[in-house]
Amino acid sequence: MNIVIVGHVDHGKSTIIGRMLADTGSLPQGKLEQIKENCRINSKPFEFAFLLDALKDEQAQGITIDAARVFFKTKKRDYIIIDAPGHIEFLKNMITGASSAETALLVIDANEGVQENSRRHGYMLSLLGIKQVVVLINKMDLVNYDEKIFRNITSEYSQFLSDINLSPKAFLPVSGMKGDNITTKSPNLSWFNGNTVLEILDQFETEPDKTSKPFRMPVQDVYKFTKLNDSRRIIAGTIETGKINEGDKITFYPSGKNSIVKTIEGFNQPHRESVEAGFATGFTIKEQVYVKRGEIAVRSDEQPPCVSTRIKVSIFWLGKKPMVSKEKYILKIGTAKVFTKLEKVIRVIDSSNLETLENKNSINRNQVAECILKTDKQIAFDIADTISATSRFVLVDDYEIRGGGIIIENLQDNQSELRNKVFLRNTKWIKGDIPFLQRAERYSQRATLLLVTGKQNSFRKEVAKNLESKLFQEGRIVYYLGFGSLLYGMDADLKSNEHKIEHIRRMAEIAHIILDSGMILVLSIRELTQNELEIVKTSVDDELIETIWVGDDISTNINYDLHIESHTSLSESYNKIKDYLQSKGIIMKVW
Ligand code: GTP
Ligand code: MG
Repeated sequence: MNIVIVGHVDHGKSTIIGRMLADTGSLPQGKLEQIKENCRINSKPFEFAFLLDALKDEQAQGITIDAARVFFKTKKRDYIIIDAPGHIEFLKNMITGASSAETALLVIDANEGVQENSRRHGYMLSLLGIKQVVVLINKMDLVNYDEKIFRNITSEYSQFLSDINLSPKAFLPVSGMKGDNITTKSPNLSWFNGNTVLEILDQFETEPDKTSKPFRMPVQDVYKFTKLNDSRRIIAGTIETGKINEGDKITFYPSGKNSIVKTIEGFNQPHRESVEAGFATGFTIKEQVYVKRGEIAVRSDEQPPCVSTRIKVSIFWLGKKPMVSKEKYILKIGTAKVFTKLEKVIRVIDSSNLETLENKNSINRNQVAECILKTDKQIAFDIADTISATSRFVLVDDYEIRGGGIIIENLQDNQSELRNKVFLRNTKWIKGDIPFLQRAERYSQRATLLLVTGKQNSFRKEVAKNLESKLFQEGRIVYYLGFGSLLYGMDADLKSNEHKIEHIRRMAEIAHIILDSGMILVLSIRELTQNELEIVKTSVDDELIETIWVGDDISTNINYDLHIESHTSLSESYNKIKDYLQSKGIIMKVW
């Protein structure tokens, strides 16, 4: 069970962890005595917190502590405590960290009472949807084990927590230093008839409903086998929720590509036919679809995740510079990474006193805000109250984490409708039995959409048609299509100037079919914009599109792949494009 321990500076987190290690017999033999002896020699008072530092240096003995995680055991099970000294570490651990806790210990110093960070950390726990929270009122020895002080802090802090919708499982009086009520009951606290810390931890359930939720596995990596005749790829990641079996239909989001799980692959583990939440695993798929890091693998028969470029979020901002709308930030969710901008601030809350501030357009340090974010690429996610693991994200600026939060609503963007059409098309599509790669091998080419664009009268049509002819003469399976040609046939029901998006969507659907047949499609279209290209990408695999701008005057915002300047002759431009296609492995040499 993963536990995160949080609380104000010096309220005793490390001491409590040290005490738990000592009192559960999790320390190497003689360690405690050795450190006490060291302290005596150096005339330093002994601190349980020293244990953690001492153990960090002892890699050699296969020891129990790494940077932020401490391992210990009780009779019931193994625990990992994540010591999160500051806000940033806390968020990092919770969201991008190897282990994200579902249980938290929140420490408050009985002598100092509730401090700013006690409230902020409480807020973060509530924001991140951590429900199993225990509040430890520590250093009871410093207040003479006074029940009244314990009750006062308990009532003050419960009020705060209830305002943020968090109801802790218990408040426990403890002394990390003296060991009162950590692993054993203490006569000093005879007035308290609740549990010890250890008892309450042992009572918690380990993430009970994770496996019963829909399957979610953010794709971390795709491993290729390089051995001859082995075209298998293993899609690897950590399963956040749910369970998957060999033979299950699977969809990757945001791309919406489908396949079937062929084998589940463990790393040096015996073979298994299914695997569930909490495991780092990998699987191979039947039909090879191009999948990359950042997508989420989902079971096709379960609730799909949301896909959008606009989200309503609750965020916790920790950056020194306020979050503002004109800056670009990096949003990391699961294994995906995209640029994002603050579109609108809905309301801002000061996390230490819960004051709400309206009409703000920036978010200051330590404020919590409800706001709208716009990402530059579509992301797949869930809503916090359905699956919290895939709703959590962090915001990065200048390579540092500046904030984090959860997605609370999926908002429409201008492609929501198109995207839904494509997802539906993918699930309804019945594939023939010839795999993509087999066609590619037969034709010595990889099906590709070549979008040749440029200004009117820029020779783009000539370049495109010449490309078709030359490729054809060299034995390629290729077809030229002008965007304008579609307007009077397939698009006859649409007025030409309105419905631009629908025109593009239909063109992309045609391209999708032609590419599926293994052909190279050369499509000439005037002044393609980046937004229009994004629409094409919702239908056609990003990896199968190449864009060529013809002419010196680049009149749109498109990020093209290849540029043919105005003075280039037709045969030169053909050679240039051919070189490019060869370098990308789109056309292979025919021997
Ligand atoms: P940071 O990691 O800096 O945030 O602090 P922390 O929360 O880990 O606190 P730490 O365990 O380092 O304890 C801070 C100080 O409080 C140390 O000097 C401890 O000895 C003291 N302390 C911790 N627990 C107790 C306790 O139960 N009673 C008394 N008297 N002192 C305690
Ligand atoms: Mg500490």
